[in-house]
Amino acid sequence: MNRQTALEELEWLPEQLKQRVERNVPLAPITWFRVGGNASYMFRLKTKAELVELLRHMPDNLPRLALGVGSNVLIRDGGVAGAVIRLAGEFGAITVEADHCIRAGAAALDVAVARFAQKNSVGGLEFLRGIPGTIGGALRMNAGAYGHELKDVLIEATAIDRRGNMGTYSVADLKYAYRSCGAAADLIFVEALLRGQPANADDIAARMSEITEARESSQPVRSRTGGSTFKNPDPDLSGGRRAWELIDEAGCRGLRVGDAQVSEHHCNFLINHGQATAQELESLGELVRNKVLEKTSVQLEWEIKRLGREKTDGR
Ligand code: EPU
Repeated sequence: MNRQTALEELEWLPEQLKQRVERNVPLAPITWFRVGGNASYMFRLKTKAELVELLRHMPDNLPRLALGVGSNVLIRDGGVAGAVIRLAGEFGAITVEADHCIRAGAAALDVAVARFAQKNSVGGLEFLRGIPGTIGGALRMNAGAYGHELKDVLIEATAIDRRGNMGTYSVADLKYAYRSCGAAADLIFVEALLRGQPANADDIAARMSEITEARESSQPVRSRTGGSTFKNPDPDLSGGRRAWELIDEAGCRGLRVGDAQVSEHHCNFLINHGQATAQELESLGELVRNKVLEKTSVQLEWEIKRLGREKTDGR
């Protein structure tokens, strides 16, 4: 059997992991935008031991991608030619440790971590209430909202490299900046240790309600969207204007390509009205970037991760 066939037949996969894989799995249902093609393979893993085992055996030439709840990603219509890895089971665990620290698995929802911290009178993690993703995604992109970002509260992260070696990484190791992480792209985060502080549970709950209210009134939280589309530019380059202000100035609020539209409510969000393709959403985003550049001379940078390949005729 040649190398390609061996890959397709998953000959390399240890017997105990065979029940954890499915082929040709649609990704649209698991992303917020509800668009995108299929993953060649989807692995659903429940333990770190399984992930280590998988990565130890996975051939080098098989691309791999860890996907959480798909809140800040745009999967292209041609899908992902490779292995998509989704974490469940023990990866969703959240525990409280000494000194008001919280340990959270990569599959734990940021919102769930905020709620857990509140119940345990651990303050400082309220901002996670405003982030619609998982801890794994937050570690990967230094997610942030309402005045804080993940790196501000991170003590250390546990991750597994492409050869299956599990390690602990400090904040400095991960080279964080605004909405970015300098760690190797194929490092898979499995856990975060977060720093909290003693606080009154009612005060934490009140702060979380404020965040919920601010978010629900200013962002299209009940639509098919991918969160903020573009990063807020460096204020020195944009004269202090945020991405949405530049988009508004360029006349893009409400702009449409097919069933994809720039949100009327918050114009740094793109909306899929139901039948949009990934290609329409991406073209709309590029159209906005061009119009903003033309009008304001500021080049917006995508915050949404665009993944996979475009659909070509005959596929
Ligand atoms: N606003 C408008 N019209 C608009 C958009 C916003 O009037 O079309 C107003 C809002 O009502 C609000 C203010 O502008 O009073 C600021 O809006 P928002 O709080 O949404 O701030 P932002 O700079 O657009 C950033 C993050 C968000 C995060 C919020 C809150 C980036 C790219 N985005 O948005 O993060 O939730 O601050 O802290 O940094 C995300 O990254 O996916 C995300 C949603």
